[in-house]
Amino acid sequence: MLRGKNVLLAISAGIAAYKSAYLCRALIKKGAKVKVLMTPQSTHFIAPLTLSTLSKNPVTVEYFNSENGEWNNHVELAKWADFFLLAPATANTLGKMANGICDNVLLATYFSMEKPVYFAPAMDLDMYQHPAIKANINKLVEYGNRFIPAESGELASGLEGEGRMAEPDQIIERLEAEGQGKLQSKKLLITAGPTFEPLDPVRFIGNRSSGKMGYAIAQEAINRGAEVTLVSGPSDLAKPKGAMVIEVETAKQMFEAVKANFKAQDCLIMSAAVSDYTPKVVAAQKMKKKTDELTLELQKTDDILKFVGDNKRNDQFLVGFALETENEETNAKQKLEKKRLDLIVLNSLQDKGAGFSHDTNKVTFIDKDNNKVAFELKEKQQVAKDLFSELEKRWLD
Ligand code: CTP
Repeated sequence: MLRGKNVLLAISAGIAAYKSAYLCRALIKKGAKVKVLMTPQSTHFIAPLTLSTLSKNPVTVEYFNSENGEWNNHVELAKWADFFLLAPATANTLGKMANGICDNVLLATYFSMEKPVYFAPAMDLDMYQHPAIKANINKLVEYGNRFIPAESGELASGLEGEGRMAEPDQIIERLEAEGQGKLQSKKLLITAGPTFEPLDPVRFIGNRSSGKMGYAIAQEAINRGAEVTLVSGPSDLAKPKGAMVIEVETAKQMFEAVKANFKAQDCLIMSAAVSDYTPKVVAAQKMKKKTDELTLELQKTDDILKFVGDNKRNDQFLVGFALETENEETNAKQKLEKKRLDLIVLNSLQDKGAGFSHDTNKVTFIDKDNNKVAFELKEKQQVAKDLFSELEKRWLD
Protein backbone atom coordinates (compact mmCIF):
# COMPACT_ATOMS: atom_id res chain seq x y z
CA MET A 1 0.00 0.00 0.00
CA LEU A 2 2.85 2.38 0.78
CA ARG A 3 4.85 1.94 -2.44
CA GLY A 4 4.74 5.16 -4.45
CA LYS A 5 2.53 6.94 -1.92
CA ASN A 6 3.15 10.55 -0.92
CA VAL A 7 3.11 10.80 2.84
CA LEU A 8 3.04 13.94 4.97
CA LEU A 9 4.62 12.96 8.27
CA ALA A 10 3.53 15.55 10.81
CA ILE A 11 5.32 15.82 14.14
CA SER A 12 4.06 17.64 17.22
CA ALA A 13 5.99 18.32 20.39
CA GLY A 14 6.14 15.16 22.44
CA ILE A 15 9.07 13.05 23.56
CA ALA A 16 7.85 10.29 21.21
CA ALA A 17 9.07 12.57 18.39
CA TYR A 18 12.35 10.67 18.62
CA LYS A 19 10.48 7.70 17.11
CA SER A 20 9.48 9.82 14.11
CA ALA A 21 12.95 9.38 12.65
CA TYR A 22 12.47 5.62 12.60
CA LEU A 23 8.95 6.04 11.24
CA CYS A 24 10.22 8.28 8.46
CA ARG A 25 12.90 5.75 7.50
CA ALA A 26 10.45 2.84 7.65
CA LEU A 27 8.00 4.66 5.35
CA ILE A 28 10.78 5.30 2.85
CA LYS A 29 11.94 1.68 3.04
CA LYS A 30 8.39 0.66 2.11
CA GLY A 31 8.66 2.77 -1.03
CA ALA A 32 6.77 5.89 0.13
CA LYS A 33 7.86 9.47 -0.55
CA VAL A 34 7.90 11.47 2.67
CA LYS A 35 7.70 15.18 3.42
CA VAL A 36 7.93 16.21 7.06
CA LEU A 37 5.93 18.93 8.81
CA MET A 38 6.81 19.97 12.33
CA THR A 39 5.31 22.25 14.95
CA PRO A 40 7.90 24.82 16.08
CA GLN A 41 8.02 23.29 19.59
CA SER A 42 8.69 19.79 18.25
CA THR A 43 12.08 20.93 16.94
CA HIS A 44 13.23 20.89 20.58
CA PHE A 45 12.68 17.13 20.60
CA ILE A 46 14.17 16.19 17.24
CA ALA A 47 16.20 18.23 14.79
CA PRO A 48 14.69 19.09 11.40
CA LEU A 49 18.09 18.22 9.92
CA THR A 50 17.66 14.58 10.99
CA LEU A 51 14.30 14.41 9.25
CA SER A 52 15.31 16.29 6.10
CA THR A 53 18.29 13.94 5.77
CA LEU A 54 16.12 10.84 6.20
CA SER A 55 13.26 12.06 4.00
CA LYS A 56 15.53 13.70 1.42
CA ASN A 57 13.10 16.61 1.39
CA PRO A 58 13.05 20.00 3.12
CA VAL A 59 11.22 20.01 6.44
CA THR A 60 8.42 22.56 6.87
CA VAL A 61 8.22 24.25 10.27
CA GLU A 62 7.19 27.85 9.53
CA TYR A 63 4.72 29.49 7.15
CA PHE A 64 7.59 31.08 5.28
CA ASN A 65 11.32 30.68 4.83
CA SER A 66 12.87 33.50 6.91
CA GLU A 67 15.96 33.62 4.69
CA ASN A 68 14.36 34.20 1.30
CA GLY A 69 10.80 35.11 2.35
CA GLU A 70 9.39 32.21 0.31
CA TRP A 71 5.93 31.06 1.40
CA ASN A 72 5.48 27.43 2.41
CA ASN A 73 2.28 26.62 0.61
CA HIS A 74 0.21 24.43 2.91
CA VAL A 75 -2.48 23.90 0.28
CA GLU A 76 0.05 22.55 -2.19
CA LEU A 77 1.49 20.25 0.47
CA ALA A 78 -1.99 18.93 1.29
CA LYS A 79 -2.72 18.35 -2.41
CA TRP A 80 0.58 16.50 -2.86
CA ALA A 81 -0.14 14.03 -0.06
CA ASP A 82 -1.94 10.70 -0.36
CA PHE A 83 -2.30 10.81 3.38
CA PHE A 84 -1.29 12.79 6.45
CA LEU A 85 0.16 11.00 9.45
CA LEU A 86 0.44 12.90 12.72
CA ALA A 87 2.82 10.96 14.97
CA PRO A 88 3.22 11.87 17.75
CA ALA A 89 -0.08 13.67 18.18
CA THR A 90 0.07 15.74 21.36
CA ALA A 91 -2.93 16.82 23.44
CA ASN A 92 -2.33 20.40 22.33
CA THR A 93 -2.26 19.71 18.59
CA LEU A 94 -5.22 17.31 18.82
CA GLY A 95 -7.17 19.95 20.72
CA LYS A 96 -6.49 22.52 18.01
CA MET A 97 -7.41 20.09 15.23
CA ALA A 98 -10.65 19.23 16.98
CA ASN A 99 -11.58 22.86 17.52
CA GLY A 100 -10.52 24.60 14.34
CA ILE A 101 -7.50 26.43 15.77
CA CYS A 102 -4.83 27.03 13.18
CA ASP A 103 -1.71 28.68 14.57
CA ASN A 104 1.05 26.88 12.69
CA VAL A 105 1.73 25.49 9.23
CA LEU A 106 1.23 21.86 10.33
CA LEU A 107 -2.33 22.71 11.38
CA ALA A 108 -2.98 24.80 8.25
CA THR A 109 -1.94 21.80 6.16
CA TYR A 110 -4.16 19.49 8.24
CA PHE A 111 -7.18 21.73 7.68
CA SER A 112 -6.43 21.70 3.93
CA MET A 113 -6.33 17.88 3.71
CA GLU A 114 -8.92 16.11 1.62
CA LYS A 115 -7.18 12.72 1.78
CA PRO A 116 -7.06 10.45 4.85
CA VAL A 117 -5.55 11.74 8.06
CA TYR A 118 -4.14 9.38 10.68
CA PHE A 119 -3.20 10.44 14.17
CA ALA A 120 -1.22 8.54 16.79
CA PRO A 121 -1.57 10.20 20.22
CA ALA A 122 1.26 10.22 22.73
CA MET A 123 0.82 11.62 26.19
CA ASP A 124 0.90 10.82 29.86
CA LEU A 125 -1.73 8.39 31.18
CA ASP A 126 -3.82 10.92 33.12
CA MET A 127 -3.88 13.26 30.16
CA TYR A 128 -4.91 10.42 27.83
CA GLN A 129 -7.80 9.54 30.15
CA HIS A 130 -8.98 13.12 30.59
CA PRO A 131 -12.57 13.56 29.36
CA ALA A 132 -11.67 16.72 27.42
CA ILE A 133 -8.95 14.90 25.50
CA LYS A 134 -11.14 11.84 24.95
CA ALA A 135 -13.84 14.17 23.62
CA ASN A 136 -11.34 15.76 21.21
CA ILE A 137 -10.24 12.33 19.97
CA ASN A 138 -13.86 11.29 19.46
CA LYS A 139 -14.57 14.51 17.64
CA LEU A 140 -11.62 13.93 15.31
CA VAL A 141 -12.83 10.39 14.58
CA GLU A 142 -16.33 11.76 13.89
CA TYR A 143 -14.72 14.16 11.41
CA GLY A 144 -13.39 11.10 9.57
CA ASN A 145 -9.82 11.10 10.89
CA ARG A 146 -8.25 7.72 11.61
CA PHE A 147 -7.22 7.03 15.13
CA ILE A 148 -4.13 4.95 15.91
CA PRO A 149 -4.57 4.37 19.65
CA ALA A 150 -1.80 4.80 22.17
CA GLU A 151 -0.46 1.72 23.88
CA SER A 152 0.18 0.71 27.45
CA GLY A 153 3.68 0.69 28.78
CA GLU A 154 6.35 2.71 30.49
CA LEU A 155 5.90 6.43 29.95
CA ALA A 156 8.50 9.19 29.84
CA SER A 157 7.14 10.49 33.16
CA GLY A 158 8.16 7.21 34.81
CA LEU A 159 4.52 6.18 35.19
CA GLU A 160 3.12 3.00 33.67
CA GLY A 161 -0.08 2.99 31.67
CA GLU A 162 -1.86 3.87 28.47
CA GLY A 163 -0.52 6.83 26.55
CA ARG A 164 2.63 5.62 24.79
CA MET A 165 2.60 6.24 21.07
CA ALA A 166 2.03 3.10 18.99
CA GLU A 167 5.36 1.68 17.84
CA PRO A 168 6.43 2.77 14.33
CA ASP A 169 6.25 -0.85 13.09
CA GLN A 170 2.64 -1.07 14.24
CA ILE A 171 1.78 2.23 12.61
CA ILE A 172 3.28 0.95 9.36
CA GLU A 173 1.35 -2.33 9.72
CA ARG A 174 -1.92 -0.41 10.18
CA LEU A 175 -1.24 1.78 7.13
CA GLU A 176 -0.44 -1.25 5.02
CA ALA A 177 -3.51 -3.19 6.15
CA GLU A 178 -5.74 -0.28 5.19
CA GLY A 179 -4.46 -0.25 1.65
CA GLN A 180 -6.02 -3.59 0.86
CA GLY A 181 -9.49 -4.96 0.74
CA LYS A 182 -12.88 -3.70 -0.21
CA LEU A 183 -13.76 -2.52 3.25
CA GLN A 184 -11.15 0.20 3.10
CA SER A 185 -12.62 3.51 4.30
CA LYS A 186 -16.09 2.03 4.71
CA LYS A 187 -17.84 3.14 7.86
CA LEU A 188 -19.16 0.31 9.98
CA LEU A 189 -21.30 0.53 13.07
CA ILE A 190 -21.03 -2.64 15.14
CA THR A 191 -22.90 -3.46 18.32
CA ALA A 192 -21.64 -6.06 20.77
CA GLY A 193 -22.20 -7.58 24.18
CA PRO A 194 -25.26 -7.76 26.37
CA THR A 195 -27.47 -5.02 27.71
CA PHE A 196 -28.19 -4.66 31.42
CA GLU A 197 -31.66 -3.49 32.41
CA PRO A 198 -31.67 -2.11 35.96
CA LEU A 199 -34.23 -3.24 38.53
CA ASP A 200 -32.85 -1.13 41.35
CA PRO A 201 -29.46 0.47 42.12
CA VAL A 202 -27.77 -2.93 42.57
CA ARG A 203 -29.65 -5.43 40.38
CA PHE A 204 -30.27 -5.81 36.71
CA ILE A 205 -31.65 -8.21 34.12
CA GLY A 206 -28.92 -9.23 31.72
CA ASN A 207 -27.80 -12.14 29.58
CA ARG A 208 -24.70 -14.27 29.10
CA SER A 209 -23.28 -12.47 26.07
CA SER A 210 -19.55 -11.75 26.53
CA GLY A 211 -19.10 -9.46 23.52
CA LYS A 212 -16.47 -11.83 22.03
CA MET A 213 -18.21 -12.24 18.66
CA GLY A 214 -18.90 -8.52 18.17
CA TYR A 215 -15.41 -7.50 19.30
CA ALA A 216 -13.85 -10.03 16.90
CA ILE A 217 -15.99 -8.58 14.09
CA ALA A 218 -14.94 -5.04 15.00
CA GLN A 219 -11.24 -5.98 15.05
CA GLU A 220 -11.47 -7.80 11.72
CA ALA A 221 -13.22 -4.81 10.13
CA ILE A 222 -10.47 -2.48 11.40
CA ASN A 223 -7.81 -4.84 10.09
CA ARG A 224 -9.51 -4.65 6.69
CA GLY A 225 -9.33 -0.87 6.71
CA ALA A 226 -12.87 0.00 7.82
CA GLU A 227 -13.63 2.86 10.15
CA VAL A 228 -15.38 1.22 13.04
CA THR A 229 -17.71 2.63 15.65
CA LEU A 230 -18.38 0.00 18.28
CA VAL A 231 -21.40 0.36 20.51
CA SER A 232 -20.67 -1.99 23.36
CA GLY A 233 -22.81 -3.23 26.20
CA PRO A 234 -20.99 -4.14 29.45
CA SER A 235 -18.00 -6.35 28.61
CA ASP A 236 -14.67 -7.11 30.29
CA LEU A 237 -12.87 -7.57 26.99
CA ALA A 238 -10.07 -5.26 25.85
CA LYS A 239 -11.47 -2.76 23.38
CA PRO A 240 -10.56 -3.42 19.75
CA LYS A 241 -7.62 -1.23 18.76
CA GLY A 242 -8.56 1.55 16.41
CA ALA A 243 -12.30 1.50 17.05
CA MET A 244 -14.22 4.46 18.31
CA VAL A 245 -16.03 2.89 21.26
CA ILE A 246 -19.34 4.04 22.73
CA GLU A 247 -20.05 2.24 25.98
CA VAL A 248 -23.68 1.71 26.92
CA GLU A 249 -25.54 -0.31 29.48
CA THR A 250 -29.22 -0.50 28.63
CA ALA A 251 -31.15 -1.32 25.46
CA LYS A 252 -32.44 2.25 25.46
CA GLN A 253 -28.90 3.67 25.54
CA MET A 254 -27.85 1.30 22.77
CA PHE A 255 -30.84 2.42 20.71
CA GLU A 256 -29.92 6.09 21.22
CA ALA A 257 -26.27 5.44 20.28
CA VAL A 258 -27.26 3.56 17.11
CA LYS A 259 -29.81 6.22 16.13
CA ALA A 260 -27.28 9.01 16.63
CA ASN A 261 -24.59 7.30 14.56
CA PHE A 262 -26.34 5.26 11.90
CA LYS A 263 -26.86 7.97 9.27
CA ALA A 264 -23.14 8.45 8.74
CA GLN A 265 -22.50 4.71 8.32
CA ASP A 266 -22.28 2.40 5.33
CA CYS A 267 -23.19 -0.71 7.30
CA LEU A 268 -24.61 -1.83 10.63
CA ILE A 269 -23.72 -5.20 12.13
CA MET A 270 -26.01 -5.78 15.07
CA SER A 271 -24.34 -8.57 17.03
CA ALA A 272 -25.38 -7.32 20.48
CA ALA A 273 -27.69 -9.46 22.57
CA VAL A 274 -30.20 -6.71 23.26
CA SER A 275 -32.66 -7.33 26.05
CA ASP A 276 -36.16 -7.69 24.62
CA TYR A 277 -37.76 -6.51 27.87
CA THR A 278 -36.89 -4.02 30.56
CA PRO A 279 -38.40 -3.44 34.03
CA LYS A 280 -41.37 -1.09 33.86
CA VAL A 281 -40.25 0.68 37.00
CA VAL A 282 -36.71 1.00 38.32
CA ALA A 283 -36.73 1.17 42.12
CA ALA A 284 -34.88 4.20 43.44
CA GLN A 285 -33.65 2.23 46.48
CA LYS A 286 -32.53 -1.37 46.84
CA MET A 287 -35.58 -3.62 46.79
CA LYS A 288 -36.13 -5.36 50.14
CA LYS A 289 -37.34 -8.95 50.45
CA LYS A 290 -40.76 -8.54 51.96
CA THR A 291 -42.90 -11.19 50.32
CA ASP A 292 -42.49 -14.87 49.43
CA GLU A 293 -43.16 -14.15 45.81
CA LEU A 294 -42.25 -11.24 43.66
CA THR A 295 -43.69 -10.43 40.27
CA LEU A 296 -41.73 -8.11 38.06
CA GLU A 297 -43.50 -6.08 35.45
CA LEU A 298 -41.54 -5.78 32.24
CA GLN A 299 -42.10 -3.81 29.10
CA LYS A 300 -40.76 -4.32 25.59
CA THR A 301 -37.63 -2.49 24.52
CA ASP A 302 -37.38 -0.84 21.12
CA ASP A 303 -36.28 -3.20 18.38
CA ILE A 304 -33.16 -1.37 17.25
CA LEU A 305 -32.56 -3.46 14.16
CA LYS A 306 -36.15 -3.15 13.00
CA PHE A 307 -36.00 0.62 13.43
CA VAL A 308 -32.84 0.79 11.30
CA GLY A 309 -34.32 -1.65 8.73
CA ASP A 310 -37.37 0.59 8.39
CA ASN A 311 -35.33 3.78 8.13
CA LYS A 312 -32.17 2.84 6.25
CA ARG A 313 -31.04 4.15 2.88
CA ASN A 314 -30.73 1.72 -0.04
CA ASP A 315 -26.96 2.01 -0.01
CA GLN A 316 -26.70 0.93 3.63
CA PHE A 317 -26.07 -2.74 4.37
CA LEU A 318 -27.70 -4.33 7.37
CA VAL A 319 -26.59 -7.47 9.20
CA GLY A 320 -28.47 -9.06 12.09
CA PHE A 321 -27.89 -12.05 14.32
CA ALA A 322 -30.30 -14.74 15.35
CA LEU A 323 -29.63 -16.97 18.30
CA GLU A 324 -32.14 -19.80 18.17
CA THR A 325 -32.90 -22.95 20.09
CA GLU A 326 -35.53 -24.47 17.76
CA ASN A 327 -36.81 -24.04 14.18
CA GLU A 328 -33.57 -22.21 13.65
CA GLU A 329 -33.65 -21.55 9.93
CA THR A 330 -37.33 -20.62 9.76
CA ASN A 331 -36.98 -18.21 12.67
CA ALA A 332 -33.85 -16.64 11.23
CA LYS A 333 -35.50 -16.11 7.84
CA GLN A 334 -38.51 -14.52 9.52
CA LYS A 335 -36.23 -12.09 11.37
CA LEU A 336 -34.38 -11.27 8.17
CA GLU A 337 -37.66 -10.35 6.47
CA LYS A 338 -39.30 -8.60 9.41
CA LYS A 339 -36.27 -6.41 10.07
CA ARG A 340 -35.45 -5.89 6.35
CA LEU A 341 -31.92 -7.22 6.68
CA ASP A 342 -29.44 -7.91 3.90
CA LEU A 343 -27.84 -10.77 5.80
CA ILE A 344 -28.51 -12.71 8.97
CA VAL A 345 -26.03 -14.75 10.98
CA LEU A 346 -27.71 -17.71 12.58
CA ASN A 347 -26.19 -19.49 15.53
CA SER A 348 -27.95 -22.27 17.26
CA LEU A 349 -27.58 -22.98 20.95
CA GLN A 350 -27.99 -26.65 20.05
CA ASP A 351 -24.52 -26.63 18.51
CA LYS A 352 -21.81 -27.49 21.03
CA GLY A 353 -19.26 -24.70 21.44
CA ALA A 354 -21.46 -22.15 19.71
CA GLY A 355 -23.05 -19.00 21.07
CA PHE A 356 -22.51 -17.05 24.27
CA SER A 357 -19.18 -16.92 26.12
CA HIS A 358 -17.40 -19.56 24.01
CA ASP A 359 -14.30 -18.69 22.01
CA THR A 360 -15.82 -20.58 19.12
CA ASN A 361 -19.00 -20.29 17.11
CA LYS A 362 -20.83 -22.24 14.42
CA VAL A 363 -22.81 -20.06 12.09
CA THR A 364 -24.98 -20.13 9.01
CA PHE A 365 -25.33 -17.04 6.85
CA ILE A 366 -28.64 -16.45 5.13
CA ASP A 367 -29.09 -13.51 2.76
CA LYS A 368 -32.20 -11.71 1.55
CA ASP A 369 -32.19 -13.77 -1.68
CA ASN A 370 -32.42 -16.87 0.47
CA ASN A 371 -28.87 -18.07 -0.23
CA LYS A 372 -27.56 -20.11 2.65
CA VAL A 373 -23.94 -20.86 3.59
CA ALA A 374 -23.20 -23.03 6.62
CA PHE A 375 -19.79 -23.10 8.30
CA GLU A 376 -18.11 -25.50 10.71
CA LEU A 377 -17.34 -24.68 14.34
CA LYS A 378 -14.50 -22.13 14.32
CA GLU A 379 -12.70 -19.58 16.48
CA LYS A 380 -14.72 -16.37 16.63
CA GLN A 381 -11.88 -14.48 14.90
CA GLN A 382 -12.20 -16.90 11.98
CA VAL A 383 -16.00 -16.55 11.99
CA ALA A 384 -15.48 -12.78 11.68
CA LYS A 385 -13.29 -13.36 8.60
CA ASP A 386 -15.97 -15.62 7.08
CA LEU A 387 -18.59 -12.97 7.79
CA PHE A 388 -16.66 -10.33 5.89
CA SER A 389 -15.95 -12.58 2.91
CA GLU A 390 -19.69 -13.36 2.66
CA LEU A 391 -20.64 -9.72 3.26
CA GLU A 392 -18.16 -8.38 0.69
CA LYS A 393 -19.51 -10.75 -1.98
CA ARG A 394 -23.06 -9.49 -1.44
CA TRP A 395 -22.39 -5.84 -0.77
CA LEU A 396 -19.16 -4.73 -2.40
CA ASP A 397 -18.57 -6.99 -5.44
N1 CTP B 1 -32.23 -6.80 18.33
C1 CTP B 1 -32.37 -5.43 18.34
N2 CTP B 1 -33.16 -4.82 19.27
C2 CTP B 1 -33.82 -5.55 20.19
C3 CTP B 1 -33.69 -6.95 20.18
C4 CTP B 1 -32.87 -7.55 19.25
O1 CTP B 1 -31.77 -4.76 17.49
N3 CTP B 1 -34.56 -4.93 21.09
C5 CTP B 1 -31.39 -7.43 17.29
C6 CTP B 1 -30.25 -8.30 17.81
O2 CTP B 1 -29.07 -7.56 17.98
C7 CTP B 1 -30.10 -9.32 16.70
C8 CTP B 1 -31.49 -9.45 16.12
O3 CTP B 1 -32.20 -8.27 16.53
O4 CTP B 1 -29.24 -8.86 15.68
C9 CTP B 1 -32.25 -10.66 16.56
O5 CTP B 1 -32.43 -10.64 17.90
P1 CTP B 1 -33.47 -11.61 18.67
O6 CTP B 1 -33.59 -11.11 20.05
O7 CTP B 1 -33.07 -13.02 18.51
O8 CTP B 1 -34.76 -11.39 17.82
P2 CTP B 1 -36.16 -10.93 18.19
O9 CTP B 1 -36.66 -10.19 17.00
O10 CTP B 1 -36.15 -10.18 19.46
O11 CTP B 1 -36.98 -12.29 18.29
P3 CTP B 1 -37.21 -13.32 19.50
O12 CTP B 1 -36.70 -12.67 20.75
O13 CTP B 1 -38.66 -13.50 19.49
O14 CTP B 1 -36.44 -14.54 19.12
